[in-house]
This record gives sequence, C-alpha cells and structure tokens, in this order.
Amino acid sequence: MLKIDHLETMQRNFSLDIENVTFHRGVNIILGPNGGGKSTLLKGMLGYGGSHILSREIAYHGSALGDISDIISFLPQENPRFRIRVEEYLIMTAAAGKVAEERVAEIIRRFHIGHLLGRSIEELSGGEFKRVQCAQIALEDKPIIMIDEIEQGLDLFHQHEMMKWLTREGQKKIVITTMHEAQLAMTYGDTITLLQAGRAEGPLPAAQVTSGQLSRCYNIRLTMERHRNAVSIYHSPL
Ligand SMILES: Nc1ncnc2c1ncn2[C@@H]1O[C@H](COP(=O)(O)OP(=O)(O)OP(=O)(O)O)[C@@H](O)[C@H]1O
Ligand SMILES: [Mg+2]
Repeated sequence: MLKIDHLETMQRNFSLDIENVTFHRGVNIILGPNGGGKSTLLKGMLGYGGSHILSREIAYHGSALGDISDIISFLPQENPRFRIRVEEYLIMTAAAGKVAEERVAEIIRRFHIGHLLGRSIEELSGGEFKRVQCAQIALEDKPIIMIDEIEQGLDLFHQHEMMKWLTREGQKKIVITTMHEAQLAMTYGDTITLLQAGRAEGPLPAAQVTSGQLSRCYNIRLTMERHRNAVSIYHSPL
C-alpha cells in the first residue's frame, strides 16, 4: 500500500494539502475539476516540485518512499516527443528491464501498435502516442502505475481497452490514474478520490460514490445511474 501521511505544496495562489490518504492494490481513480490539483498531487507524490513541496511524508509498505525509479511508472499529462522510432522507444525500455522478446511481442499486440513500429514518435496521433507510452509502462512492469489523464486522446474502443488493461494490472499493482471521463471512472474504478481546490475526499469505494458528491465536486448538477456492468452520468439541469 501507498500511504500519504502528509503532502503539502504551494504554487502561487494554489495550495494542495493532503493527509492520511492510502491507495491499495487496484484501480484508484482521481477525479476533479480543472485546476483542482490532480497533476500536482501525482507530481507531489513522486517528489517532483522542488521548493513548491512544503511537506512530503509518503510510505510504501510501511517504509518512507525514497527512490521511486524502481517502484513507480509515471505517465505525465503532457510528455515531450523525440525523433525516435516506436520500435527503438520500446526496445530501450525492454532492454533496460531485460524483458523477453515474446513478452514484447505480446505487449505490442495488446496495445495494437504493431503497424506503428517503423514510425517516428513525433508523427503519431495523440491516441497512438498514448498507446505506445502505455505499452512502455507495461514493459517496465513496476509495482505502482501512475497515469495523468489515462483517457486523454483515446477513442472509445481504446478507452475501454486501456481501462481493461489497468483492471488486470490492478490485480497485482497499485494503479493511480486521474481522469475526466467520470462514467468510465465509475465503471472501472475500485476507488474514487474526489479532488477539488487541493483537498481530497476519499479514496471512496466506487460503488459508494453518490450523485451528490460528484455534483458538489464539479459544481454542476449530475445524476448517476448504475447499471449491471456500467454507469451512466448525465447533467440534469433544474
Ligand atoms: N508551475 C506552476 N506555477 C503556478 N501555478 C501552478 C503551476 N502548476 C500548476 N499550478 C496551478 O495549480 C493548480 C492546480 O493545477 P493542476 O495542474 O494540479 O490541476 P489539475 O487538477 O491537474 O487540472 P487539469 O484537469 O486541468 O489537468 C492550478 O490552479 C494551476 O494553475
Ligand atoms: Mg492535470
């Protein structure tokens, strides 16, 4: 488990203050409005933020979280692109992790990126690049996966594909991802953390999150309906 005893950051007028938040194995989703602090929270957990970080006490399985490089794979909201072929990009990661060739082939199939291997990273569409980056995370195979805006740029097919991949990873890993697609979050998330104005509510079991909590978080009247295998959320103006 990953426990934030205390994380406090200050940037210009924005403060993030998180206390006693614990993430367990499974898919943990952070929802909240633009500027609520989702990216700041992920980066703060990683220790990225320099002098903006005022306090950072985080424990992984009971010990202070020190060097994160062997433990956490992180995919930021914006990632710079380089002129490098997809194949080389993946091979670099695979070689670093001594990943077997069959495993690389399996991951290439799973993320539907076989036809992209000869292309430059710079030329990919937003969703294609996202799939390649997720493939890289799968190759890294670290015990914690953090992704900022998993569904960003993905079409409907790949949004579900990606959430199914995270669900499988969550059986053995701690997955923490931010999202804006609340329906997708409620359908696939084990826990939901609502983050607004730098303050967190949760993690809450996804099945217990109410329409009222979502409405307050986004400051818009929302109605959530749970179906057998999915959740629908719609705006219900008065
Ligand atoms: N480097 C920075 N300097 C000053 N303020 C910053 C900086 N980075 C972020 N902020 C501010 O901190 C607040 C939280 O930003 P953050 O990026 O964490 O929000 P977010 O929840 O990820 O939003 P979004 O959904 O738009 O990605 C915002 O008000 C933002 O303007
Ligand atoms: Mg963000």
